[in-house]
Amino acid sequence: MANTIFVSGATGTVGSEVIKQLIKKGASVRAGVHSEQKAGILKKLGAEVVAVDLNNIKSIQTALTGVEKAFSLSPLVPNLAELGVNFVKAAKIAGVKYIVRASGLGADSPQAITLGKWHREAEKAVETSGIPYTLVRPNSFMQNYVNFAGYTIKTQNAFYFPHGNGTISLIDVRDIAAVVATVLTESGHEGKAYELTGSEAISNYQIAKILSRLTGRAINYVDMGTPESIVEALMELAAIIKAGYASAVSPAVKQITGKQPISFEQFAKDYLQFFK
Ligand SMILES: NC(=O)c1ccc[n+]([C@@H]2O[C@H](COP(=O)([O-])OP(=O)(O)OC[C@H]3O[C@@H](n4cnc5c(N)ncnc54)[C@H](OP(=O)(O)O)[C@@H]3O)[C@@H](O)[C@H]2O)c1
Repeated sequence: MANTIFVSGATGTVGSEVIKQLIKKGASVRAGVHSEQKAGILKKLGAEVVAVDLNNIKSIQTALTGVEKAFSLSPLVPNLAELGVNFVKAAKIAGVKYIVRASGLGADSPQAITLGKWHREAEKAVETSGIPYTLVRPNSFMQNYVNFAGYTIKTQNAFYFPHGNGTISLIDVRDIAAVVATVLTESGHEGKAYELTGSEAISNYQIAKILSRLTGRAINYVDMGTPESIVEALMELAAIIKAGYASAVSPAVKQITGKQPISFEQFAKDYLQFFK
């Protein structure tokens, strides 16, 4: 179908929400899934599901056949940049007309950390592809508190991040998806890069207070804990959060979607079942 929108990372935190919001807007969506056994929910939503391996250009090219617009996201893996570059190469061959690429806040900074440099390499491939594009650079996700901390919040009344007292302008993935879905279905965003944050920067100590109040239990933030994978890159990210470099608030979500970004308080209410 000529106006099909392809979404990569479709079963992941961002991709699945992008698909929900695109379908709500009436778009025709093709979901690129890595593990097909996770695709049931996407089929139920009304998405066409195709298998794709971002390590394999031919596989991406096949998945993009007949696609007009595409959302590109790499999983957090050491060859994140290569997967993004593969996507661009395949999109060119397949004749894709527009790419929205998700990276991370600070990717274009001259002082970018390793993760940012990986993202920037993929962004540059998009920028130089000749295909019209939009870049979105989100800050850390509120959903990390479900995906990476929900279990210990439930079982130990505690969560562990090495962020000190640093504040972060966390963003709800539903706001990222609202921006991506808007940009993919409206014109006027070509060639732009949007920094996506929530409307306030808060610390993990403040988050512990919100979660304590909403769950009715004392939830503690413990300033420690070493992530198991890609340790060095993630520890660099933790260091910049600790130093206060993740606090800036961007107006982009309100400008693009017309709505205030979701607050952490609202996020925690909506996801309360994961903390109780
Ligand atoms: N978390 C944050 O706070 C944050 C903030 C800013 C930017 N980011 C960026 O956001 C991205 C991660 O997004 P996310 O949280 O939505 O990811 P996620 O939930 O981990 O999902 C990643 C998706 O990619 C798929 N995938 C993995 N390997 C693949 C492959 N070789 N080919 C095709 N698909 C593959 C996964 O499928 P399977 O599960 O089936 O393998 C899954 O659907 C990263 O680039 C990260 O740097 C994250």
